Amino acid sequence: MSLNIVVMAAGKGTRMKSALPKVLHPLAGKPLAQHVLDAVAPLPALRTIVITGHGAEWVEQRVHGTDLHFARQQPQLGTGHAVQQALPLLDDEAGTTLILNGDTPLVRRETAEALAAACGGTRLALLTVLLADPSGYGRILRDASGGVLGIREHKDASAAEREIREGYTGMMAAPTAALRRWLSRLNNDNAQGEYYLTDIVAMAVAEGTSVVATQAASEAEVLGVNDPLQLADLERRFQRQQADTLMRAGVRLLDPARFDLRGVLSHGADVQIDVGCVFEGEVQLGDGVQIGAHCVIKNAAIAAGAVIHPFTHIEGDASPVEVGEGALVGPFARLRPGAQLGREVHIGNFVEVKNSRLAAGAKANHLAYLGDATVGERVNYGAGSITANYDGAHKHRTEIGADVHVGSNCVLIAPIRVGAGATVGGGSTISKDVPAGQLAVARGKQVHIEGWRRPVKNPKGEKKT
Ligand code: UD1
Ligand code: MG
Repeated sequence: MSLNIVVMAAGKGTRMKSALPKVLHPLAGKPLAQHVLDAVAPLPALRTIVITGHGAEWVEQRVHGTDLHFARQQPQLGTGHAVQQALPLLDDEAGTTLILNGDTPLVRRETAEALAAACGGTRLALLTVLLADPSGYGRILRDASGGVLGIREHKDASAAEREIREGYTGMMAAPTAALRRWLSRLNNDNAQGEYYLTDIVAMAVAEGTSVVATQAASEAEVLGVNDPLQLADLERRFQRQQADTLMRAGVRLLDPARFDLRGVLSHGADVQIDVGCVFEGEVQLGDGVQIGAHCVIKNAAIAAGAVIHPFTHIEGDASPVEVGEGALVGPFARLRPGAQLGREVHIGNFVEVKNSRLAAGAKANHLAYLGDATVGERVNYGAGSITANYDGAHKHRTEIGADVHVGSNCVLIAPIRVGAGATVGGGSTISKDVPAGQLAVARGKQVHIEGWRRPVKNPKGEKKT
């Protein structure tokens, strides 16, 4: 089949009351229009044309796909006017043009494919839906025997027409040559003064072109986003679909209603995820991984048996944060880009790790910072200790050998090396390399002053001198 695809994404989305063009508002972290483009990407289209207008540069920058073409619509005079802008780019007059709204994000590939097939280059195929509350939608007008007569926009509909519950989804497939002809005859003589794409249905009927209207299998798939309430509703429906897919694959979600995935989650067996977690980008969870409540995890690979305690924030970038087998992280830990934790590493509360590799069994259990560091096996890194990795201009590395013990409240001024088996006394500020196996202490010596007396208050509350 020779197919063109047109996605309309030029409207402002006035009802969103936002500076961001509506089709760029994210659903599960991805722009609405991108959901539509991803759904139709597997179809064998000659061309996919996105109509942009409001915030066109912004939209053209943010949406992507293979062999995408953009057609600008300035000003935005309605959906029919939008498709008119795509006409010069349509290929093969004998084929089918599939038209979708950029604000209907949950459409499935199968549905788009079936609609194009129903057109088959000869019929006008419409996707409709029976809605409990169809207000705002164009209504499908049918004759006594059920034949489609046209679409009436909500604002133009009579009270009786508004009772019709069958709405137009914003998705249709038309014979390309006929579409060109119908669009050239549109006018804007209606309640909104716009060129309605939906007016072509009555033209097709008048010409005797057969019009087929198929009803969508599910309502969610064809719901459009026009305001923040509808966006939030679709976000929850989409999240629930993802949660159900994961649970069917064996993931234990303690509450699927309090689960958010904005990307891709791959997992092994016996993974458990507590409430209120957000996953972003690409996250891999190995067998038996447990994620505590209220964690935010972006671009990370967490190996088998690791436990991430509540309120932990993990943020990888193009290369994922790595958490080794059996590691324990959190509560209240922060792993930033470049954090690589080996097997059975322990990272405790209020510990931040950035661009640092910790070898197997290393521990930083409380209130610490490790930045640009290489930490050997079994190192114990004390509470309140930090690597001073930044001199105001450059970042420097800290190397800590295996079995080192860093006491509490130490500052390791990078670049610096602490040799294997060394001990750093609590409260030290270390500015010179520490030889392996030795004790380094660098702090003011403790002094004792005999006979010293604390100041006391006199009865009037004044200090005695
Ligand atoms: C449209 C349909 C309505 C249908 C509903 C389904 C028309 C006239 N009405 O109404 O029958 O029930 O979708 O959700 O088609 N757009 C442009 N240029 C414009 C105007 C809009 O590109 O000049 C784009 C928007 O960015 C959006 C899509 O077209 O992606 C739909 O526009 P919107 O204003 O939301 O139309 P609805 O009022 O929802
Ligand atoms: Mg809409």
